[in-house]
Amino acid sequence: MENPFVYGEVIPASAFVDREDELDRLTNDLLAGQKVFLISPRRYGKSSLVRQALSAAVRRRAVAVDVTVSSYSSYVGFLEGYARALLVAEARPDSLRGWIRDLLGPLRPELRIDPGSRPSISFPTVRTARDAARLAEAIFALPARIAELRRKRLVVALDEFQAINGFDGHDVEHALRAAIQHQRQVGYVFSGSEPSLMERMLARSRPFYKAGPVMRLQKIPADRFASFVNERFTRTGFKPDAGLGAAIVELAGNLPYDVQRLAHEVWDDGRAAGRRMVGVEDLHATLRRLLNEHDAIFEAAWQRLTLPQRAALRAVVLEDGRELLSGDVRARHRLSGPSSVQTSLAALVRDDFVAREHARYVVVDSLLREWVARRTY
Ligand SMILES: Nc1ncnc2c1ncn2[C@@H]1O[C@H](COP(=O)(O)OP(=O)(O)OP(=O)(O)O)[C@@H](O)[C@H]1O
Ligand SMILES: [Mg+2]
Repeated sequence: MENPFVYGEVIPASAFVDREDELDRLTNDLLAGQKVFLISPRRYGKSSLVRQALSAAVRRRAVAVDVTVSSYSSYVGFLEGYARALLVAEARPDSLRGWIRDLLGPLRPELRIDPGSRPSISFPTVRTARDAARLAEAIFALPARIAELRRKRLVVALDEFQAINGFDGHDVEHALRAAIQHQRQVGYVFSGSEPSLMERMLARSRPFYKAGPVMRLQKIPADRFASFVNERFTRTGFKPDAGLGAAIVELAGNLPYDVQRLAHEVWDDGRAAGRRMVGVEDLHATLRRLLNEHDAIFEAAWQRLTLPQRAALRAVVLEDGRELLSGDVRARHRLSGPSSVQTSLAALVRDDFVAREHARYVVVDSLLREWVARRTY
């Protein structure tokens, strides 16, 4: 029997919990041609939600295109990948060449179709920033042209959208914004996992200001996630303690990725040991195994931190992320003045070790939190 818990990848519908409202809203907005911004910290489930919404849109006869902006190392590389994704989404392989000629002819694209791999499009004549800007204009106009030619709705997902900032900044934003605002038959979702960067892109002074609805993805309600965990253990032949799901969710800080990871690993250990009953002691045994396995990685990460950052991280863990600037907490953990603690916290946030959650700081990775609590002093 297969492990029902999935982590580290976009999850299948079978492991997808909650998010019904978000899914409905996103799907409907996309089909209505809205430009949606989806924002959350890492590993909350943006890509999984987007994937479900795209599938739902396809079931309603739309064409879906999904591109991860951060996987490209250059602007032109991104434009080529985007063009490829748009064209292969709708054109059949035998008509691809004709399509490309019709839609992008003046840009002298080169199409390569190697057996066994996906076709690729490149634009070898693009050399200067001006050429790239011209190319961008043509590619950003493509979705509407394809929708029109095919008489279908298009839904486009640009994931890790904040990475667009690394290309050539505002020009990209301007060009994209100018292109999409008139594309009524194309829905877009721009999802990003660096909330501060994404929020800045939506500021009044920037091209995407008021371009469309903003969805800020929250965590999954803890009780729903806990029942899901228990139910999947039961369904796959285990007898979980009533409190197991809740204990997993709690230990994982209710981060969707971490909940699925812990549940997955507890399930594996239970299966390997041939157990039927699984409880909180099993969870702790699995946790100890995972901490041992991650020891070298965490040790290396710890070594890269400055001393004040280490102290701040320990304070986050031991004080549950609260009141870190107070005299009391600073004295207890031998932290220096409030402004230098703030600098350390900012560095830890920037490097994705901790995140702000309402009025407190949390360690993003629950394994790291436990490692810091047990193995640092
Ligand atoms: N709706 C959900 N139900 C259950 N588990 C989920 C859900 N969404 C996400 N997860 C868990 O979280 C993991 C990360 O999800 P996903 O990759 O979609 O998040 P993300 O926000 O796109 O992350 P990143 O910022 O790293 O790209 C999944 O592999 C899965 O284990
Ligand atoms: Mg993602």
